[in-house]
Amino acid sequence: MTTVVRAVVLEEVGRPAVVRELELIEPRAGEVRVRMLASGVCHSDLHVRDGEWDRPTPIVMGHEGAGIVEAVGPGVTTPRVGQLVALSWLIPCGVCRSCRRGQVWACPDSPSYRHTLLDGEMAFREASRGVRSYCAIGTMAEMSVVPAGAAIPLPDGVDPAAAALIGCCVTTGVGAVLKTANVPAGSSVAVIGLGGVGLSCVMGAVVAGASQIVAIDRVASKLDVARSVGSTDALLADDDAAATVEALRELTDGGPDFVFEAIGRSSTVELAIAALPVGGTAVLVGMTPLGERASFDVYPFVDGSRRILGSNYGFAEPALDFPLYATWVAEGRLPVDRLIDRRIALDDIEDAFAAMRLGQFVRQVITF
Ligand SMILES: NC(=O)c1ccc[n+]([C@@H]2O[C@H](COP(=O)([O-])OP(=O)(O)OC[C@H]3O[C@@H](n4cnc5c(N)ncnc54)[C@H](O)[C@@H]3O)[C@@H](O)[C@H]2O)c1
Ligand SMILES: [Zn+2]
Ligand SMILES: [Zn+2]
Repeated sequence: MTTVVRAVVLEEVGRPAVVRELELIEPRAGEVRVRMLASGVCHSDLHVRDGEWDRPTPIVMGHEGAGIVEAVGPGVTTPRVGQLVALSWLIPCGVCRSCRRGQVWACPDSPSYRHTLLDGEMAFREASRGVRSYCAIGTMAEMSVVPAGAAIPLPDGVDPAAAALIGCCVTTGVGAVLKTANVPAGSSVAVIGLGGVGLSCVMGAVVAGASQIVAIDRVASKLDVARSVGSTDALLADDDAAATVEALRELTDGGPDFVFEAIGRSSTVELAIAALPVGGTAVLVGMTPLGERASFDVYPFVDGSRRILGSNYGFAEPALDFPLYATWVAEGRLPVDRLIDRRIALDDIEDAFAAMRLGQFVRQVITF
């Protein structure tokens, strides 16, 4: 039996993504087939679409998905058929330096980065050629076959769209605050860029017990969403970085203890560092196009014992963190539903990318 599914395919980076019918292989040993219920559209997908990151093609897009396990290959005991799973876009290699230290989120040799199944096989086929899956999961498809280790079971009753967001932006933003930065209660925090990732930093700062959370974006409506998930102050940013730094210092008694950059532009990375008070920490979460550089004044940085931290995937240990974050969603501690402001179909993907370039919508979610 051949399974045929509709999927968003990127034939070449920099060219429009298209929806096509592809054949899907049967799950083999160590693999599961997931019927997708929701896939968020993350700015990382747009970086790929726009050719800002070099990725192999053709490829099925999407890395922020959740669904129901429909079939498991030989030997798979977890997850089980019928379970709701959120998909992890990073499976650690298990042998590199980072993995040996237990820092699996920093694994540079993750097989996920080959965008194939673990043995190099491709889950999708078209005519006689294989089509890769972004980060080995390719969530913008009605169904996907993924490594069993990427499919993390969640407690019953979690909204599938929220579960999808746990697969990327929630884990990235909440983890950046709680795990990468380990923000102490009572800290002042600023978040620059209020998409799914930045608003998840805001939610994480609330969980951490930050006493002040300044939300910053150039789109006014984003500031309202930030307030609804717990920010205490708002700054509408224009292109005058010096004015933003000045306003931020004024609001936070000389600068916030922690600044989270959740856009991925060198100008806002520089802004985040420039706004730090003595002893302050800039956490870089946004990802720039490849090859971009940023600069800062070295003397005051060293003299003031400031810090810059890079945070990949919110230092995620998916099998531990996904169920925890899902529990917090169910308890209302992470009001992820407020981030989801547009539900779309697979065919709307290029429209979703166009809206994202303009800063419209917080999180657009493809539902199936
Ligand atoms: N570190 C990681 O592991 C990781 C994981 C996921 C996403 N990311 C990256 O995080 C970044 C954010 O992702 P997202 O999906 O939330 O993006 P998004 O496009 O939804 O949100 C970005 C926000 O920044 C705002 N913005 C843009 N330019 C601005 C400026 N000059 N000043 C103020 N605000 C500005 C936009 O209005 C928007 O609200 C992307 O670079 C993405 O690739 C990193
Ligand atoms: Zn993402
Ligand atoms: Zn590794």
